[in-house]
Amino acid sequence: MDTAHRSFPILVALFVLLFGVTSSQPYEEFLQCLEFHDSNITSIVYTRANSSFSSLLESSIRNPRFDTSATPKPLLIFTPRQISHIQSAIRCSRAHRIQIRVRSGGHDYEGLSYSTISPSLTLDLISFRNISIDLAQQTAWIQPAVTTGELYYRIAEKSSTLAFPSGICPTVGLGGQISGGGWGTLLRKYGLAADNVLDTRVIDAEGRILDRASMGEDMFWAIRGGGGNTFGIVIAWKIKLVPVPASVTACTVTRTLEQNATEIVHRWQYVVDKLSNDVFFMVVLNRVVNPIQANATTIQASFNSLYLGSIEGLILMMEAKFPDLGLRRENCVEMSWAKSILYFAGFPLNSPLESLLDRTISATGSAKFKGKSDYVKEPIPISGFEGIWEKLKEVGVQTGGLILASYGGKMSEIPESSIPFPHRAGNIYQVEEVAFWVEDGVEAADGYLNWLRGLYEYMTPYVSKNPREAYANYRDLDIGRNGGGGEGDYRRARSWGSSYYKNNFDRLVRVKTAVDPANFFRNEQSIPPLSSWR
Ligand code: FDA
Repeated sequence: MDTAHRSFPILVALFVLLFGVTSSQPYEEFLQCLEFHDSNITSIVYTRANSSFSSLLESSIRNPRFDTSATPKPLLIFTPRQISHIQSAIRCSRAHRIQIRVRSGGHDYEGLSYSTISPSLTLDLISFRNISIDLAQQTAWIQPAVTTGELYYRIAEKSSTLAFPSGICPTVGLGGQISGGGWGTLLRKYGLAADNVLDTRVIDAEGRILDRASMGEDMFWAIRGGGGNTFGIVIAWKIKLVPVPASVTACTVTRTLEQNATEIVHRWQYVVDKLSNDVFFMVVLNRVVNPIQANATTIQASFNSLYLGSIEGLILMMEAKFPDLGLRRENCVEMSWAKSILYFAGFPLNSPLESLLDRTISATGSAKFKGKSDYVKEPIPISGFEGIWEKLKEVGVQTGGLILASYGGKMSEIPESSIPFPHRAGNIYQVEEVAFWVEDGVEAADGYLNWLRGLYEYMTPYVSKNPREAYANYRDLDIGRNGGGGEGDYRRARSWGSSYYKNNFDRLVRVKTAVDPANFFRNEQSIPPLSSWR
């Protein structure tokens, strides 16, 4: 391109910036603005007319429910290669009123990182995937599009006795996951991923790069669990690695209704939050083909546990504390902690550790899904479980279920206000209610969504109240949303905000008001600034 051609878009952009001339496409001025900042940058911006647009958009859609022709799409996808690109995108988006949706791993439960009715730009951070581990300090700097699996693999390459207490599914991005908390099999020992963040680099709404010292403790508090796409764009986390034994024990025991599942799950609730911090227990409840009766189905409880010790140690503990489970040696396998992630994620036992690096595998296959969440503070009575079984019988085999994850331990020791994630002491376990379906079309989707909402309604007497608590990373727009494409309203937001953050909600609003008063970073469930109190 000769100099005359190169300077033309720059002059146009300058004119546009100064006089605000409108053009036929809402994003043309934005593109001119980007080019004004960096003449090479437009080669990494994709419009809907670009042949790569759809494949790029789909490359990180982790819920096929939001991969249909009816799903609202961004106007543009931008794949920045360096930090200055992100800063330019922020400045041009502000100037030309295009909303930014940041995407790291694309697992948002409601697809908010790439789908909105507002004119938007999906800022896909896929190139930000560096991991730098300091073994001596037992810390690491990680970029936001690093997945949990990639992180666990790189830690395991360097040490068999270090880990990080983040989520179970290996394809989830740490940009989004730490922004909302991040729980996994180490939560009873070390808390959440967000509890183990030491420092960060964030680009704020002015395009400035901030670290912990320059952003101040209020903003540093807010970004560790207060939700993504709200306070700024995280470009790096400094995390604390945690010690684990070189060999841990993972076990699975399944029980159907015919094998006393109801009584065992009921009993599980009285034990699980009081066990040693070295034990994590998860129970998956769903409808399965009956293993002992042809052409029949039943309800199954699958008890999955991780113990930071030997098989013998866990069996001794279970015989003393939870004999009803009937745990036996053959239910358990010893392995490295990194391998236990593959075990919990449902990979076959002989899978290579490299499977952790595959960011394309889908935890739900081609199934669309919706999740909702709850917290249980008092054991659910037997009759309550019997009603859950009736609900599960309303859907097909393995198309709906509940996942119960044990709390207590370190989770009870961390104060509710330590970070925005407030679900701490007093919770026996967290519940995720889920529905999966492969059928296409609105009618099929509505059937499953209605079933899930019915299950959630059914759970009301058995779960937390005032507020009914929910996990921010299991985003659920049923519990409330900001208006339009994210225009906040403090009073409306308070209702879903209290579910996710309890009494931390108001502090989050104060931080938002201080760091992003114009509500530049927003989505359908971002924290609104106080100015939205109309
Ligand atoms: P995505 O890129 O969609 O981002 C999610 C949200 O964070 C969006 O609002 C996005 O804009 C924002 N965001 C992303 N990157 C950002 C950045 N760099 N700066 C600021 N904001 C940013 N959770 C858990 O705790 N434990 C678990 O085991 C699992 N397992 C699991 C399995 C599967 C299959 C799914 C789909 C989800 C989970 N989750 C989970 C929930 C998961 O933690 C949650 O969906 C995260 O927000 C996903 O983060 P991603 O970066 O992948 O998503």
